[in-house]
Amino acid sequence: MMVMILGLLILLADILGSRAAAESLTAEVLDLMKASPLIDGHNDLPLKLRWLYQNKLSTIDLKTLSATNTNIEKLQAGHVGVQFWSVYVLCGAQDKDAVRLTLEQIDVVKRMCGDYEELELVTSSAGIENLGNGKIACLIGIEGGHSIDSSLATLRMFYDLGVRYMTLTHTCNTPWAETSTKHIHSFYPDVKGLSPFGKEVVKEMNRLGMMVDLSHTSDETAKAALGVSKAPVIFSHSSAFSVCNHSRNVPDDILLQLKENRGIIMVTLPVKFLACGNEAINISTVADHFDHIKKIAGSFSIGFGSDFDGENRFPAGLEDVSKYPALIEELLRRGWTKTELRGVLRENLLRVFKEVEDVKKNLQEKASEVEIPFEQLDQTCHLQLSPPASARSGTYRVLFGGVLESLVFTIGMCMMLR
Ligand SMILES: *[C@@H]1O[C@H](CO)[C@@H](O)[C@H](O)[C@H]1NC(C)=O
Ligand SMILES: *[C@@H]1O[C@H](CO)[C@@H](O)[C@H](O)[C@H]1NC(C)=O
Ligand SMILES: [Zn+2]
Repeated sequence: MMVMILGLLILLADILGSRAAAESLTAEVLDLMKASPLIDGHNDLPLKLRWLYQNKLSTIDLKTLSATNTNIEKLQAGHVGVQFWSVYVLCGAQDKDAVRLTLEQIDVVKRMCGDYEELELVTSSAGIENLGNGKIACLIGIEGGHSIDSSLATLRMFYDLGVRYMTLTHTCNTPWAETSTKHIHSFYPDVKGLSPFGKEVVKEMNRLGMMVDLSHTSDETAKAALGVSKAPVIFSHSSAFSVCNHSRNVPDDILLQLKENRGIIMVTLPVKFLACGNEAINISTVADHFDHIKKIAGSFSIGFGSDFDGENRFPAGLEDVSKYPALIEELLRRGWTKTELRGVLRENLLRVFKEVEDVKKNLQEKASEVEIPFEQLDQTCHLQLSPPASARSGTYRVLFGGVLESLVFTIGMCMMLR
């Protein structure tokens, strides 16, 4: 009898002890995240705003929106301090109205971050560090080089509008950069890695102080960009290829190159990039990616890039932006130190951003006037302007008087639907 009671008491003490340990772990996580609010590199809420609500912010309440992985109350519950919003437009808009659609997505982010006092648009590392108490910083990232329509001037204007990173490709090749998922679209099938114009895009981004994002690019593109970039680069939403061999993930040799470059990979959460088999996918699977990348490239090369609202399925326990503390808790349990976690939460991205800003300060060059060779573009929807000496000018001079007379217009018909 005594033995049984003693046994029960020990069991009870065990349960209470482990509950107390769990509670103190949770308290530790919350202290850590309050002091270092999380920076997330990639969220596709703006795409959902277009798809579900035609960007009509007046019809929704972003504080409590429930059809999405993201709303303001959940961001607050998840201790998210900084969110890079993706102003993604579908690859199908390439060579058509991609620039206009991107402008409209920038507009909706600016309006959203202006309308809610909990949010604030910022465009610099200092803006993040000097943010008002309790506010969530909004930053803008373009997802896919098709958004600039092969124009460095357009890239510069996007910077002026507040864009602070650009992913060189989405799931389609551009005329100057190769994607990791070529089978999805048929654009520019012969492009390999970065073309000379693609290298010029990376250099211009360095000069502007815009972060170069290599998620979605082919390994060849990523290696070429890492070779050209004078500033640290990011993978705004990718995970480890060695853990799940999806083409969207980053192999170890590129992780090593990334470490050398002082850039970061912001680990992404959609289940299809996390586990390649049929295993039940949960927080442990995500933590395996963190552990692996830390082993190869060090904890200072890691951040978070959820891709919430960009994909459908997320791991059990990490279903929306309020759930990050559970992941931090798992990393603490696995022995990650608080210094390492402060880096992953916030400091690593801030370091990259500052170095990108420093490179801008130190580069005294003028804006690049390089243009992509016209023959490298799909000419269906691009207008070619050439001087009057051009052999084709005769007919047009008759049709257009005055100033226009000196230009030749090759007018494309944008009627081919892809
Ligand atoms: C991933 O691994 C599986 C099984 O080993 C293999 O069949 C598949 O081709 C690999 N995929 C890639 C992209 O390497
Ligand atoms: C995740 O699932 C595996 C088995 O499927 C299990 O062993 C592990 O404890 C789970 N981890 C968490 C954090 O729930
Ligand atoms: Zn993406």
